Amino acid sequence: MYKLNTLFFLVLTGLDLVGGLKRKGPRTPLPAENWAAASEKAKAFVSQLDVTEKASMVTGSPGACIGNIAPMPRLNFSGICFTDGPHAVSRMEIVSVFPASLTMAATWDKDLLYERGYALGEEFREKGSHVGLGPSAGPLGRHPLGGRNWEGFSPDPYLSGVAMRETILGTQDAGTQTTSRHIIGNEQETQRTNSFLEDGIEVHALSSNIDDRTMHELYMWPFADAVKAGTTSVMCAFNRVNQTYSCEDDQLLNHILKKELGFEGYFFSDKNLISGLISPITSKSGNITMSRLDDMIQRIMTPYYLLNQDHSDYPSLDPSAICILGASLTGEISCSIAARDVRGNHSSLIRRMGSDGTVLLKNVNNALPLKSPKSIAAFGNDAGDLMSGLT
Ligand SMILES: *[C@@H]1O[C@H](CO)[C@@H](O)[C@H](O)[C@H]1NC(C)=O
Ligand SMILES: *[C@@H]1O[C@H](CO)[C@@H](O)[C@H](O)[C@H]1NC(C)=O
Ligand SMILES: *[C@@H]1O[C@H](CO)[C@@H](O)[C@H](O)[C@H]1NC(C)=O
Ligand SMILES: *[C@@H]1O[C@H](CO)[C@@H](O)[C@H](O)[C@H]1NC(C)=O
Repeated sequence: MYKLNTLFFLVLTGLDLVGGLKRKGPRTPLPAENWAAASEKAKAFVSQLDVTEKASMVTGSPGACIGNIAPMPRLNFSGICFTDGPHAVSRMEIVSVFPASLTMAATWDKDLLYERGYALGEEFREKGSHVGLGPSAGPLGRHPLGGRNWEGFSPDPYLSGVAMRETILGTQDAGTQTTSRHIIGNEQETQRTNSFLEDGIEVHALSSNIDDRTMHELYMWPFADAVKAGTTSVMCAFNRVNQTYSCEDDQLLNHILKKELGFEGYFFSDKNLISGLISPITSKSGNITMSRLDDMIQRIMTPYYLLNQDHSDYPSLDPSAICILGASLTGEISCSIAARDVRGNHSSLIRRMGSDGTVLLKNVNNALPLKSPKSIAAFGNDAGDLMSGLT
């Protein structure tokens, strides 16, 4: 049985190699000409849409993935599937679970970061997903108690930037789009989003108030590297920045990301994704011009063409996706459709990343300040069982 599965997988992989981008190795962003050519294709696509189709593309549709743009058979468009990351293909089965970004940063190894990105990209793509929601550099790790620090790489913006770049290049070289998240200042989970008191009074999400210099030198730094690496999309955060919700922040999204950094992809919000919506920033009045709507769709479709995701041999969505997503949302555990195995030989890579990210100090020539210690404390994620709380 085991051999049969392995054989099946190899055949599947062999076929998949011709689809999508797949260009392992160069570790350079795709050139501007590729973006321009993809943008032209996206423009031609937009010109064929009617206004209902346009609206459905920016609001998203229900489907088998955590976010979906519905297929349009008349245009040979098979739709776009967004799948959560950032360390594994989330809400799918028979996938690899890769080491956390925190562990990856501790390897200080660009090659390994690229390899992890590539392997992740392969798994998303072979599941038939187009967009993997990761990598994350927000939270950066301002506070040690930050609940999602492990999802980011490091509080050092330079190290985080290098890690974002390698992860994005790897994932996109394997043919999967990336979503760099979360813009920005998502440094704590408590009150990260708005809530309502019993009497209906709204309590706003926390606001990360960040001055311009700190923004550029610290929090935005890894995202600047992400944009330079060609990240195809950016997810805005639940929290507010300077009292304005991140996803509605013109200064942040339009001025810093688009104008200063030259970001050419699309935004969507963490909040809207949960309800299946892909919703880039809209005008405050609630009205939107046709040219703005066209620009949004062109931005959504450009990365799709950039990574050759329109090719007919791009893997179809794993049929088990819908039942696993449904089960994950309802809390049920049964899904009777067999999942596609996309793990390949990634286990050996995972083993290597785990050991390279683990630092063990050796007391050569008594270099460590340990003179007859009475007790020794071990700190860190692996110091004890995390399930029993902080150690
Ligand atoms: C859709 O694909 C078919 C088969 O490849 C092709 O004949 C047809 O022209 C395509 N239609 C459009 C609108 O691209
Ligand atoms: C936030 O406010 C500070 C202080 O007024 C200002 O320097 C900075 O540019 C603002 N940033 C954004 C993204 O609005
Ligand atoms: C939005 O569009 C509607 C319908 O055309 C119009 O009545 C309304 O005045 C517009 N609102 C703004 C703020 O432009
Ligand atoms: C995994 O398999 C590929 C293709 O056979 C090979 O190039 C690569 O070196 C293998 N990786 C590991 C970590 O064994």
